[in-house]
Amino acid sequence: MKRVVSGMRPTGLLHIGHLKGVIESWVELQEQYETFYFVADWHALFSKYDSAWEVKEHTYELVAIWLASGIDPEKSTVFVQSTVDEHLRLAMIFGALTPVGWLERNPTLKEMVRADDPTVNYGLLGYPVLQAADILVYKGELVPVGKDQIPHLELTRDIAGRFNRFYGDIFPMPKPLLREFPAVPGTDGIRMSKSRGNYISIVEDEETIRGKVRQMITDPQKIRKNDPGHPEVCSVFTLHKVFKESDEEIEQIERECRAGTRGCVACKMHLAEKINKAVSPIREKYKEYMADKSKIDEVIASGMEKAKAEASKVIREVEDAMRWFHI
Ligand code: TRP
Repeated sequence: MKRVVSGMRPTGLLHIGHLKGVIESWVELQEQYETFYFVADWHALFSKYDSAWEVKEHTYELVAIWLASGIDPEKSTVFVQSTVDEHLRLAMIFGALTPVGWLERNPTLKEMVRADDPTVNYGLLGYPVLQAADILVYKGELVPVGKDQIPHLELTRDIAGRFNRFYGDIFPMPKPLLREFPAVPGTDGIRMSKSRGNYISIVEDEETIRGKVRQMITDPQKIRKNDPGHPEVCSVFTLHKVFKESDEEIEQIERECRAGTRGCVACKMHLAEKINKAVSPIREKYKEYMADKSKIDEVIASGMEKAKAEASKVIREVEDAMRWFHI
């Protein structure tokens, strides 16, 4: 059975774009593959070096959302990256095989420098090296991620290829698994993101969600309720597709909008109800997991055991191939 490996950084906010773009595909993949899902807390530390104490709470929140969304610890190995030291061991080895030039070309790094704090630390520079180790320490073949991660996956393959050339064919060439999905627009019509503040969080209450949807901008040419609209330029319509209940439903919304028989206010309230229907059960379960964290502790402790068992086998194989020391 092919192995799926993926991680998310515990940065403290998950929005419906994450749910629809990544988490739901993680849930589906559990049925067909051997799945390893981890909280990338080291990766979070590189940009939260001045507030490390927040990472732990965000780790709980992230695991709580996963469990509430249907990640099943009976089917998936769910764990925290920093509890499995083998990731670091492999990252150190990969550090020797990665020219600095490869890292300096990383578009995420360049963007971070441009957009954010100009402090690029050693951890951020080496970010993709650790990510390659995260995947390859389990010989992961498929990596469900968002589009923004494609350059990191290319680097993972470059590193795997370089290792294999020097030391023998140990690693597979992992491929990204992208979900075919319309990009999720935020409440301002631009791609939903934490930094823009245009998001709807997965655990927001129903009234807040209604309020955010109500303020969305629709087709600017549709001024009165009965004006014909242009769904192709309307982000409310895009979100209707993201939260689609059936093809017929979408066709009907489109038809009514074009004919001018569907007002934007009603259309938005319809959308808000659909979003609430999708996220309310998740929010309720999330609250239960967060109120008593013992279930999460159990999940990540047993996930750690399973992950370590696999990772230590691969480390042994790698170090044997390099004729490196063993402890
Ligand atoms: N860089 C990923 C992100 O920001 C998180 C991540 C870390 C990851 N290690 C990984 C994703 C390994 C996939 C596989 O979302």
